[in-house]
Amino acid sequence: MQRFLNVALAAIALIFVLGLFSAARAGQKGSETKGRHFFRETCRQCHTKGAAGGEVTPLNKTMAQWREYFAKGTHNHGKEPLSQYLPADQLLDASTFLIQHAADSPQPETCGK
Ligand code: HEC
Repeated sequence: MQRFLNVALAAIALIFVLGLFSAARAGQKGSETKGRHFFRETCRQCHTKGAAGGEVTPLNKTMAQWREYFAKGTHNHGKEPLSQYLPADQLLDASTFLIQHAADSPQPETCGK
């Protein structure tokens, strides 16, 4: 009986640890598809030609420049946090979209069309 309990506990612990691992991994890498959606819906309100923020597309920066931009996390000449427009998880998705379609990426994309 004791042995059975030990095995069961070990199995539960393992499942728990694996769950944490995949959650952490999923958290690090955003969804490009969702990111395209969030970028179109939120960022492009101000970032089309002639709009307040000027045109912003993935092609505005290289992959490294987008990474740096989102690592810094500030917006509009450093005046405000990017997180005021999107919650952290959606911002991660948007950054994934922009990085994956940056000017020097394998699949450059002009805009969130
Ligand atoms: C309410 C309007 C608005 C929204 C929404 C908005 N921006 Fe901006 N953004 C601006 C303005 C204004 C500037 C400054 C433009 C300038 O000086 O030419 C700017 C500048 C930028 C720049 C140029 C670098 C900088 O920060 O100064 C980037 C890149 C950028 N925005 C990305 C984004 C992304 C990504 C989102 C969505 C998460 C977003 N913006 C949402 C208005 C907005």
